Amino acid sequence: MEMNRQGNVAPDGEVLHPSLSKEAKETAEKLRALAQSDRLAFWGEMSKDITWFKEWTKILDEGNAPFYRWYYDGQLNACYNCVDRHIKGWKKNKAAIIFEGELGDTRVLTYWDLYREVNKFANVLKNLGVKRGEVVTIYLPMIPEAVIAMLACARIGALHSVVFGGFSSDALKDRINDSGAKILVTANGGYRRGKPVPLKNNADTALQGNQCPSIEKVVVVRHTPDDVPMEPGRDLWYSDLMNEAGLYCEPEVMDAEDPLFILYSSGTTGKPKGILHSTGGYMVGVHTTTKYVFDCKDDDVYWCTADIGWITGHSYIVYGPLSNGATTVLYEGSPDYPAQDRFWAIIEKFGVSLFYTAPTAIRLFMRWGEQYPAAHDLSSLRLLASVGEPINPEAWMWFYKHIGRENCPIMDTWWQTETGAHLVTPLPGDTSFKPGAATSPFPGVEVDIFDEEGNSVKPGEQGYLVVKSPWPSMLRNLYNDSERFLNTYWNQFKGVYLSGDSAKRDEDGAIWVIGRVDDVINVSGHRLGTAEIESALVEHQAVAEAAVIGKKHELKGQAVSAFVTLREGFTGSDELIAELKQLVVSKIGALARPEDIFFTSELPKTRSGKIMRRLLRDIAEGKVLGDTTTLMDPEIISSIKDKYDKEAG
Ligand code: WT7
Repeated sequence: MEMNRQGNVAPDGEVLHPSLSKEAKETAEKLRALAQSDRLAFWGEMSKDITWFKEWTKILDEGNAPFYRWYYDGQLNACYNCVDRHIKGWKKNKAAIIFEGELGDTRVLTYWDLYREVNKFANVLKNLGVKRGEVVTIYLPMIPEAVIAMLACARIGALHSVVFGGFSSDALKDRINDSGAKILVTANGGYRRGKPVPLKNNADTALQGNQCPSIEKVVVVRHTPDDVPMEPGRDLWYSDLMNEAGLYCEPEVMDAEDPLFILYSSGTTGKPKGILHSTGGYMVGVHTTTKYVFDCKDDDVYWCTADIGWITGHSYIVYGPLSNGATTVLYEGSPDYPAQDRFWAIIEKFGVSLFYTAPTAIRLFMRWGEQYPAAHDLSSLRLLASVGEPINPEAWMWFYKHIGRENCPIMDTWWQTETGAHLVTPLPGDTSFKPGAATSPFPGVEVDIFDEEGNSVKPGEQGYLVVKSPWPSMLRNLYNDSERFLNTYWNQFKGVYLSGDSAKRDEDGAIWVIGRVDDVINVSGHRLGTAEIESALVEHQAVAEAAVIGKKHELKGQAVSAFVTLREGFTGSDELIAELKQLVVSKIGALARPEDIFFTSELPKTRSGKIMRRLLRDIAEGKVLGDTTTLMDPEIISSIKDKYDKEAG
């Protein structure tokens, strides 16, 4: 370890992590003190790191709460902040993106390269008729063109709607139609464990027979050697368009409250919600948290292993790191291709210093064994971070020991698609960490834990994790669905944001997030609505009714588990199970594939007809049944339990 160990003992004698300077501790104290004394002044101060075309004079408008407006008379452009402002000085030739393809190919884009590509693609979009305020759907693998396309949208004031490349054609179709996107940007294919992923074929299926009438053109990036059919008049090669595009595109002057993007996320009922983020507040939120939670400095090499199709990719691969002028690593492939040491090989190859991943991945690495990281030089690492679900203390310790080599603090960051940026997390300058606790609100964020009546719970008691006052990177609305926005987040406790998670505080005040309280499940850090999976299942002619639950799973955190009743004349079989699993994959994507499907003659329901999924979860996890008093017919649940214990248990 070549790190400088001097200066790591704080004045009061507390030992800091050797990979951090004592400055980190002073910074944490300074930020907390400022936010404590004046929350809004803190967010005003943080906004100074952003380049504004016109400075804001009003920080927060609460007049039409909860439709809050932040920095709302200010003007800026997110792309300008991520690219243009860095090419004026020495960062012009700094690596902005280091791309590693699954096959081992590497591409480095400097800030200057990124500037050129983004300008050209912004002109491509304009030439295709995209206007400010219109939507572009991006369905791409983890390649630089995905970042380029996002930033090009931001440059011309168009909203991007990125759809995860692992989603099926049906899921893509629904998201295109909800947003009314005019342009779809995709690739001829991607790679996953050495095999091609047929993105263009999926896109063709989504669009066939005019199922997505808003789409005018499809831009196709050539990424794999595979040939794909190109529909004349609709499909265009990215490279052809780029060759003809002008070199400079003036960035649009956006109002702080102009929307930046839509990102779909699963909810408790019905179709996914289009979560809408604004420009000014979002940029302040992601810039500030990247800078202070990751201690991101000019000489860092930063790697977040998320996919760009999720909010983590948006905030902490693209906007946060690039706004900070950092070097961000983009890896297309799987952690076990060609071998189970791939991540550690990448860290060694690029000298990654800040590493952000998910508990589900860490548990996988634990299972594979410490010999894989041990075979690589990981001494460049100085800070680790985790996101997606509560990190179990065993995984925390393993991450700390075998990856961080006991030199790196771990930031366990709690946040959501809706929150835009980290809300609960330690800071790098903290001198003690609690494995498994997301710990404390980020400065300037007012988090609390409420009981049913909206009172703060006592230490040790579980309650609803809420946010009591607005924060800059909060979602502004659900796309075209204000009513659902109000009902989902704001109507339970007046003026307070309901996260949908439960949490508790310990005696020291540290926050421990427990998990979702609603019918949303978390599979490998990905959010899935049980309702979506259920509606896929009932599309099968044999299925009368379905109830989906998240069942504890050693690696994934939760696994999808389905209880299904069949229509008259149908019987359960292994073939039917296979068909139903395939149906879910084709309706949503492989991540939603049920781990198990259990046939039952009835489902437990309340008197008002609501399925009691909580009790089904108890059965699947082999627990003692919880409260059954609200059931219409308590007999049913015990007979399901008997049958389950016999056949599946
Ligand atoms: C849900 C949000 C935020 C990016 C990834 C997922 C769970 C996320 C943590 C954490 C405990 C966590 C919550 C949350 N979650 N991070 N550090 N500790 N739980 O984004 O799909 O919007 O899901 O993920 O349940 O509500 P998302």
